[in-house]
Amino acid sequence: MLINPKNIAPPPYADGMWHWRRHFISVAQIRDRRDLDEDLFPLAHHLEHMVHNEGASQLLVGKCLYDLFYEPSTRTMSSFAIAMKRMGGMVESISNVQFSSVAKGESLEDTIRTLACYSDVIVLRQKEEGVAKKAAEASPVPVINAGDGKGEHPTQAVLDLFTIYRELKRIDGLTVTMVGDLKHGRTVHSLSRLLCLYDGIQLNLVSPPELRMPDKLVSELRGHGLEPRIHDRLEEVVPESDALYVTRVQLERIPQDQRPATIPYIVTPATMAMAKPRGEMILMHPLPRDSQDGNPEISVEVDADPRAAYFRQCEYGMYARMAILSRMLRAD
Ligand code: ASP
Ligand code: CP
Repeated sequence: MLINPKNIAPPPYADGMWHWRRHFISVAQIRDRRDLDEDLFPLAHHLEHMVHNEGASQLLVGKCLYDLFYEPSTRTMSSFAIAMKRMGGMVESISNVQFSSVAKGESLEDTIRTLACYSDVIVLRQKEEGVAKKAAEASPVPVINAGDGKGEHPTQAVLDLFTIYRELKRIDGLTVTMVGDLKHGRTVHSLSRLLCLYDGIQLNLVSPPELRMPDKLVSELRGHGLEPRIHDRLEEVVPESDALYVTRVQLERIPQDQRPATIPYIVTPATMAMAKPRGEMILMHPLPRDSQDGNPEISVEVDADPRAAYFRQCEYGMYARMAILSRMLRAD
């Protein structure tokens, strides 16, 4: 990884390649892995050092971020807000639209146009796939898609890859196993697309038949050179996995009568006993894990395992979002 703490300017090739500097709606906008390997990741790593050593930077003084969330969030909303504040910027938010003029029937477009009068970037989470794009079309300031229904969650994919890079020191040639609700989970939709930029990736998709990754997306991945292997049983692929990426069943997107009776896969210490050793393997989860019935998809006994990277993943997320914001909001 290239790190030059003295220089945070984008590399010279960046002009014309940052197709997503205006809005960041889909990972498909990142067409060149150098945008990650040679720019965002080193910058995020540099900002991580800065936070640890100097506390804060002043990169975004005078800039304002608006968090607009039509769906619940802990990590995305908070990490964007703190990322902005750590760089000297300001933050305002609407996290319960029922107390905004949305409750009086205001359209998304009018809401966006209004918030754009007060801010320099809008971070939007919405319930429906495709709505982030519509919002971007209406917005005079950049819109970042913080999750649009079962569509995409592009900044999560960037932070997921940054996590893999920080923890395993490489991405090319890895075996990545995604497990759980691959049908409705937007994080796996974005991450699998982003993995297409890398060489020699083996992607395993583990889910019950009713929660499989959509055929259309699997074909898209194949068209980009990935050959996902579809599995029902987690045990079959744990031993070969370098990154095991667990997801929650997205109950809010599944009608009551079609919900699975139990959580289809639970990662326990016994699962981890089959996995590669520390330094060669990480266990990831975008979080939240669903603990409502006391049996989350990663059992809490696994948390102490050094390969359990999901809370470190949250922290890397803040640095990745600092990097994204500084690239989107600074001209240099
Ligand atoms: N927090 C992630 C998302 O909003 C994953 C999840 O909710 O399961 O997509
Ligand atoms: N990973 C993620 O998007 O978490 P939140 O839903 O808490 O924002």
